[in-house]
Amino acid sequence: MDNLERGNRIELSALAWKAKVLPLYEPRINILMNNFCIDVALDIDPLTKEIESYGNNSHTTVSLRDINPKLNSYLKEINLTIIYAELFYTPPHITGEAHTDGLGGDYIKINFVYYGKNSTMNWYAPKSNIQKTLLPTNVNASSNYLFYKLNEVDKLHEQSVKFPSIVQVGIPHSITTTDEHRYCLSLVPVRYGRRITMQKAKNIWSR
Ligand SMILES: [Fe+2]
Repeated sequence: MDNLERGNRIELSALAWKAKVLPLYEPRINILMNNFCIDVALDIDPLTKEIESYGNNSHTTVSLRDINPKLNSYLKEINLTIIYAELFYTPPHITGEAHTDGLGGDYIKINFVYYGKNSTMNWYAPKSNIQKTLLPTNVNASSNYLFYKLNEVDKLHEQSVKFPSIVQVGIPHSITTTDEHRYCLSLVPVRYGRRITMQKAKNIWSR
């Protein structure tokens, strides 16, 4: 969990001001915080129910009443509110379809992964000239996805999602599992009614 260490703020030297270089954080923060996935050190079980109690449907809506009040309190302290919660189940040895959540852009979710040893989340860039049609999911009329075949995208990054990690979901992404099945509780946070960009997330969780 070395990458969860906070970088110490360092004072701006007179030289830095002169050079118009503003090193607000130690350089290791920039190395460890990529634009796809940020691990967060948080010792809170996000749900009041056992994860297995939700069954093995590939995609299930989770009632906001099931969220641990301790998690809601923590999020309230940092001005975040969860507006939607869902659970994804992936059997072993699967690479799921690549998709963006919604129309695409720059917005994050807070994902808690249960089991899923050696599983990864993969992020992609669409190849040029690929046009997609927004498709509805089968669990929620208001959540739509753009699906991509793997030959329509180029892989940018892969990383193991932790408990939790902040993940970019506005660009195409997929999940790969190995020997173990995987549950992913996925929370949509907003601040003052607006989705959180990855840069905003870095500002929130690097403090
Ligand atoms: Fe997604």
